[in-house]
Amino acid sequence: MATAMSTPSSGGPAFAPQAETRVIPRPAPVVATTGWRAGLPLLGGAQVTLRELCLSDAASLCAMLTTAEVTRFISPPPTSVEGFERFIAWTIYEREAGKAMCFGIVPHGHTDAVGIIQVRYLDAGETAEWGFAIGSPFWGTGMFAEGAREVLGFLFEHTGLMRLEARAAVVNGRGNGALRKLGSVAEGILRHGLRRGEEVLDQVMWSMLREDWEGRAQPVPTVVH
Ligand SMILES: CC(C)(COP(=O)(O)OP(=O)(O)OC[C@H]1O[C@@H](n2cnc3c(N)ncnc32)[C@H](O)[C@@H]1OP(=O)(O)O)[C@@H](O)C(=O)NCCC(=O)NCCS
Repeated sequence: MATAMSTPSSGGPAFAPQAETRVIPRPAPVVATTGWRAGLPLLGGAQVTLRELCLSDAASLCAMLTTAEVTRFISPPPTSVEGFERFIAWTIYEREAGKAMCFGIVPHGHTDAVGIIQVRYLDAGETAEWGFAIGSPFWGTGMFAEGAREVLGFLFEHTGLMRLEARAAVVNGRGNGALRKLGSVAEGILRHGLRRGEEVLDQVMWSMLREDWEGRAQPVPTVVH
């Protein structure tokens, strides 16, 4: 059963750990990567920059990602700025271990991230799952889609990723709509895939293969450094 603290199958970002910053002992690396374990690239789009999260993003992410409309169909995020600081520290730790990466979505003209795109590896580097969220003031602006395409380009063109999975609650219209628009393919329904307190939701299982991405002929993302 999906929870924020256990499995990365909520359909949104996995926000564990929230309770404390204990990230020792350092786990053995599980993924052979092509460089991102040392640091995420800066990806550039027309409206947004994608970069690794930093602790100073915590207040903005707390304001953007804790609202009722954002959290409605995903695992509960942290509830405080300090909780987001712990989450951000954890994402860096997971990246260094080669297990996951988490990009912050920073609109041009902003300093801090207003959303995140998180990629969690399910095997030694060919298969991953992603989760994402952006503050509701930015819904429908194209910023998420642009940022997502930058990350997809990075994953499929600059790492060895072959398959990217996503889970979205059936009732999550925007989540499913965004995944469909990006070219993901719905594979089926995961019955009772997400528990949120007393609520149990079915989920759509989405995937995108490297060949799907290549077939869409998206432009190569701009790797600034
Ligand atoms: C998911 C999320 C990142 C998408 O960002 P966004 O800016 O809202 O996405 P977009 O507007 O680019 O795309 C959503 C699409 O779904 C469509 N859509 C909206 N409501 C819909 C509904 N009820 N049924 C079907 N499609 C719907 C929109 O029309 C849009 O498609 P269009 O651009 O062709 O019109 C954002 O909504 C979010 O953070 N949601 C909360 C967290 C979350 O649910 N994360 C995803 C878990 S899978």
